Amino acid sequence: MLASKRILLIIGGGIAAYKSLDLIRRLKERGAAVTTVLTRAAEEFVTPLSVSALAGEKCYRDLFDLTDEAEMGHIQLSRSADLVVVAPATADLMGKMTAGLANDLASTLLMATDTPVLCAPAMNVRMWDHPATQRNLAQLQADGVRFVGPNEGDMACGEYGPGRMSEPLEIVAAIEAQMADGPLQGKRILVTSGPTHEPIDPVRYIANRSSGAQGTAVARALAALGADVTFVTGPADVPPPEGVQVVRVKTAQQMSDAVDAALPVDVGVFAAAVADWRVVSASDRKLKKTQDGLPALEFSENPDILKRVSHMDHGRPMLVVGFAAETNDVLEHATAKRQRKGCDWIVANDVSPQTGIMGGTENAVLLISDAGTEEWPRMGKDAVAARLAQKIAEALSN
Ligand code: C5P
Repeated sequence: MLASKRILLIIGGGIAAYKSLDLIRRLKERGAAVTTVLTRAAEEFVTPLSVSALAGEKCYRDLFDLTDEAEMGHIQLSRSADLVVVAPATADLMGKMTAGLANDLASTLLMATDTPVLCAPAMNVRMWDHPATQRNLAQLQADGVRFVGPNEGDMACGEYGPGRMSEPLEIVAAIEAQMADGPLQGKRILVTSGPTHEPIDPVRYIANRSSGAQGTAVARALAALGADVTFVTGPADVPPPEGVQVVRVKTAQQMSDAVDAALPVDVGVFAAAVADWRVVSASDRKLKKTQDGLPALEFSENPDILKRVSHMDHGRPMLVVGFAAETNDVLEHATAKRQRKGCDWIVANDVSPQTGIMGGTENAVLLISDAGTEEWPRMGKDAVAARLAQKIAEALSN
């Protein structure tokens, strides 16, 4: 899929730069041409010799290199690629990109390019969590920069948390998704998935049995058709798909805010099992057993994200797809739900325990739309997702 594509790989100065050497190999294996740029700091971690040997091409380092400027000016260098990949994207590089600074070759290329940019951040967990980095991330996402990772785990600095650069094959998957030229190329699609957790106190929460498997499969299938997918997920059992923009949330309110931040989109697919209620004032201390009897939990209703988006006057997605998990009278309940929510399609399924659908690998769904009801035979959740993605592509092409 990457044959005859050119990637401009900007390697930032972090210990994760060693993984970028492997990334170059993986890209070359898939037929891509890789132009490499090292920042000064990156040269402390990997050498220009190993980078250019693996890429099979010259490695660029200097903004004011007369030979490079004569052979290929930095403006041309920034535009001759199909995709610019920044890996590792350090806190410093993200800060420069956000601020529009251009004081070395890497940052100048990032300012001068008209090519899509994909960042694979890597930094210490505190640096990643720092409000400045999170602010920069939000701004860069709003500017259209794509991100893969960071992952959570042990860090080279001995700490644990989000900040590890994605593995080379994960970055390759994100690059392939970005380059996919399927029927949904250029379409922005939002997918919500997984359960939500509504806190009772710092250690207890209300949840449901959603595994996130169907929503994850839908996001993967849409990305495979070339869509630019934002995947807003509650705490699911299955890992998010590669090649999509992942936004992790816990509560329904956070999911609702993340959905707003992702708009506008062409299509919204709401597969999350959002908790209907939350505890009004979750305690910030663990509730204790007392002599005075049981704690009284007061509930309030969570925002209905699907309903709200379906009824938007401005910026409503062209196509809004809801899910209905029912345990009886599926068609009747789901048809009523479609009316009530105001969405275009409802994907309905029977989640009574005997079906084994909730938490399982298969699904049997009804697709309810203005055109009527389609009954799909029981099949794998991936197959349901592929069929739904195909339907969405057809609907957008009409
Ligand atoms: O829970 P309910 O049966 O109402 O869910 C039906 C649809 O509504 C699902 O697509 C779900 O993702 C969506 N929903 C939502 N926000 C809620 C509740 C449900 O988006 N608060």
